Parts: sequence; C-alpha cells; structure tokens
Amino acid sequence: MRRIGAAEIRARKGEPFPVVTAYDTPFARSAEEAGIDVLLVGDSLGMVVLGYDSTTPVELHDMIRHTGAVARGSQRAHVIADLPFGSYEVSDAQAVASAIELVRAGALSVKLEGGANVAPRIRAIVEASIPVCAHIGVLPQTARLGAGFRLKRERDALVRDADAVVAAGAFTVVLEMVDDELSGEITERIPIPTIGIGAGPRCDAQVLVLHDVLGLYPDAPPFAKQYAKLGEIATAALASYAQEVRDGTFPLVRATARDGGGYRPGKG
Ligand code: KIV
Repeated sequence: MRRIGAAEIRARKGEPFPVVTAYDTPFARSAEEAGIDVLLVGDSLGMVVLGYDSTTPVELHDMIRHTGAVARGSQRAHVIADLPFGSYEVSDAQAVASAIELVRAGALSVKLEGGANVAPRIRAIVEASIPVCAHIGVLPQTARLGAGFRLKRERDALVRDADAVVAAGAFTVVLEMVDDELSGEITERIPIPTIGIGAGPRCDAQVLVLHDVLGLYPDAPPFAKQYAKLGEIATAALASYAQEVRDGTFPLVRATARDGGGYRPGKG
C-alpha cells in the first residue's frame, strides 16, 4: 500500500487534520485504525517511553529503532521522525546523514527544531530529497538551556522563523506553545500547514503526545486533552492478574480430552 507523501500533507493547507505521536508497533496500528494518517515519532519518547525527564538524552539510534517500529505498525500513514538533539547541529552534512538514517528506518520525512537559525539545515536535507517538517515556538530540546517553556508571544521573531522555514523548503511546521492569535496570523500568512500543540484552534492541524491522549503519562501539559485513562485500566488489569496468581485462579488448568479439552479455571 502506498504511503501518504509530504506533498499530500502540504496540500491539506486549510483543512483540519489530526496528528499523534507514536513510538511502537501496536500503537501505530491503533492510530492508523483510528483514521489518523500522520504519525510523529517524537523525541518525546525520551520522557513518555524511556523515563528521562527531557528529550535531550534521546539519541539517533533510539529514534531509528522506534521509527522502524512505527513504520512496521502502519501501512499508509505518513511517518515523520524527529531528528534528536545533537544529530543535526554540527553541520549540514551531519543533518543530512542523520535524516538518511531515519528514512532508512521507515520515515517519510524528518522534523527538526528551530527557525531562521536552522534554515540552512532544512535546505540541505530538502536538497537531499528528504521532506522536512519544521518546529518553531517552544523548542523542547534546548528549552532548558535558556528560552524555557513559557508561551511564545514574540511576534516579529516568530514570523521571521515561520517565513524562514517556508523559504528553506519545509512542507509543514509545528507551532509549539505559541500565542493563539499569533499562531492564527502565521497560519494565514504561510502557504504550508501549521500543526499546533498548545497553540490554539487556528492552526491547520493539531498534534498531541499519544500518552497524554490515552492517559498513560502523569505529567501531561495543561493544554493536552485526555481521551481515556489507560494507565488506570492497565494498573487494574495487572492487579487482577497478580491477585489471580496469588489465589490460584490463574493459570487455567488444561482439561483432559475426556473433559472436553480446552482450559478451565484453576483451583481458585
Ligand atoms: O517530540 C514530540 O512529541 C514533538 C511534539 C510535541 C510536537 O515534537
């Protein structure tokens, strides 16, 4: 089955569409079955899957492994993979080499953080025929080094970043924690879809972290909406299993052919 390409995503400008992060095969399958056809293998995996307290420790080999898992769990979805911190800052050549590794693992495009400052990297990757999703506003990979996680309201700087990533050839751009009005202005201004996260309703598309949507991560940001409490369901299921082992209800006992075969409850 043919996957959705970057050009098709770009053509969705003006049409709201959902994006969700995915990190493994079963949840990539669930998202695709739910009709979500843009999957972001985000470096948020550092927090929600690997247990770090930021995205900074995530390495390229982590992203390669999880990108492969997501690609194997989906057939038609457009898979965007994050270039992690340290995999594109050194040079254009480093950025292109890292992007190639992610494409080899199954990504159809890559995402990197930054605006005007990373425009040469975006251009170099696009010239290597790899589509790029840009990411401006709050930049989690480096937020702790200075700019922080507060809502972005600096109009001129953000407009300059948005224009720069478009000029460099990005096919779409994530706006993270950008003031609602400003993200509306940027969405109207640029010809590529904006994908908002904590950036209000006027972006073309929205992205959320899978574990926030499903209620699997205790530290969800306030703008994220929880659509289920899978963490609680998982704990309850595991508690039932543990109880049944303790009281002997599990494992099931294999019935003899004379008893009709199959399994029946254990001694509990
Ligand atoms: O890593 C990630 O999950 C992201 C989204 C928050 C956009 O970059």
